[in-house]
Amino acid sequence: MIALGLHGGVTLGQHEPAAALAVNGRIVALCEEERYLRIKSCYGMLPEKAIQACLDIAGIEWGEIDIVVVPGITYDDVAERWRRYLVHLYGSCPRFERVHHQTAHLAATFYGSGFEDAACLSLDAAGDRACGMTGTATRAGGVKVTREMPTENSLGYFYTLMTYYCGFADGDEYKLMGLAPYGKPTVDLTRLIRPSPDGWTFDWSFVRADPSPKSPFEPLYAPKLESLLGRPHRRPNEPMTDWYRDVAASTQKLMEDCLLSLVGAMRRDDPGQKNLVYAGGVALNCSANKHLLGAGYEHVYVSPVSSDRGLALGCAYLGATMLGDQPWPAWDVYLGTAYTAASIEKELKANGVPYREVRDASEEGAKLLAQKKIVGWHQGRSEAGARALGNRSIIASCSDAGMRDMVNAKIKYREEFRPFAPSMLQEAVGDLYDTRGGDDFPYMTFTLDARPEKAAAMQAVVHVDGTSRVQTVRSSSNERYHSLIRYYAALTGTPVIMNTSFNLKGQPIVETPRDALMTFFGCGLDALFIGDFLVEK
Ligand SMILES: [Fe+2]
Repeated sequence: MIALGLHGGVTLGQHEPAAALAVNGRIVALCEEERYLRIKSCYGMLPEKAIQACLDIAGIEWGEIDIVVVPGITYDDVAERWRRYLVHLYGSCPRFERVHHQTAHLAATFYGSGFEDAACLSLDAAGDRACGMTGTATRAGGVKVTREMPTENSLGYFYTLMTYYCGFADGDEYKLMGLAPYGKPTVDLTRLIRPSPDGWTFDWSFVRADPSPKSPFEPLYAPKLESLLGRPHRRPNEPMTDWYRDVAASTQKLMEDCLLSLVGAMRRDDPGQKNLVYAGGVALNCSANKHLLGAGYEHVYVSPVSSDRGLALGCAYLGATMLGDQPWPAWDVYLGTAYTAASIEKELKANGVPYREVRDASEEGAKLLAQKKIVGWHQGRSEAGARALGNRSIIASCSDAGMRDMVNAKIKYREEFRPFAPSMLQEAVGDLYDTRGGDDFPYMTFTLDARPEKAAAMQAVVHVDGTSRVQTVRSSSNERYHSLIRYYAALTGTPVIMNTSFNLKGQPIVETPRDALMTFFGCGLDALFIGDFLVEK
């Protein structure tokens, strides 16, 4: 049986449209519209190209789909809007079901984890009139919701308000998180949100009500926030100051306290449970997630598609269960489109680009990294989620801090306070980082403390607070990327490289070979591998 999960802009303010396809319970494709349209986050847009990409990957026709599932159960007209859209695209609409936005988050993370049973947590700004859910789940019985938290008590909204206050916009919460270690948590924000024994209490009156924002670039907070703090918000192009650094640190600390309070209550609800699964936009906060590793659970899985990028995945899983299929875990995130060697070579020739075919891209790539070259790495199927995980990545040596500045100056042009992340051989992580009891961190969903004696050898990927957002790589999930790092380790003695997403500032991650070429020639990259083809400047 075939289930298609969809998410997109049929209601105001939706973003990150995507499509996911489950065939007999197995996820065969998860595609994001932004990669194909080349517009980051695709606010208010529908997943037209993502749907077609899923069909192409699976090699199926529209008429073979047994069910379509979408979030939006609290919106009466959602089903009719989707039906009309799908009939417009394909001439028909199969069985159609709606689920709760937060349930879709829970399903994405629980079924994706592969755990037999788990405590489940979803937290975001808002979705279907809730800002999160807790639940318990078993593979046989599915997900049972134990708490539904109303939007008016949103931890995600709190974080987003403070993101705006510090001069960023919706979707820039990761910048506030990156800024936080530069400040001190000295600003009292407990008038906005305060931890309680089983979570927190948020004062919704700090959210702007009149006029309501019409675009993601308008401030979200009420004017009284500036009155409370006694200082105006930072304008986007103003220099960063200690005040905003301290606000960022205080926001992060308070958010972590609230999160841990809720997780503590979940532990008390079910003290025997060993597994925690977590998704929703708040789960992108990898700095806060580090503390979940010490919160009493033996295994913590944070979905690699935590934000609304993962709703289609959750819907596909829920569709599979509605059809009587047993969901399979998502073993990795390489669920997008791949490009054949013939199509890559055709693109290179059509553009008159000098290239050569190499015998082993991993070995050649490692040599270039050891020579301090900055390399574009486009391989296999594109990865779903906010992070490039070795198939659409820009990679470089991380042994001196100068490489971070070089990548920033030549390619990324991003705020100097934002850290770059490392990819390392899975077997090396315990030697390099305090893993807090874990041994596998394949999705960059947690930060870990670098062992001080090892930090010097990987300066470019250790943040000012001594942490890194790590990716561990196993050959079983990405053989080519693992091989690259292994060759690099043999050459340099360091089993870790810098990995940042293959895009320019403000753009989505590259999808096609053509996107990779356009980016390569539009920035200071030294070399580009597309499959086994090497292009150099
Ligand atoms: Fe969400």
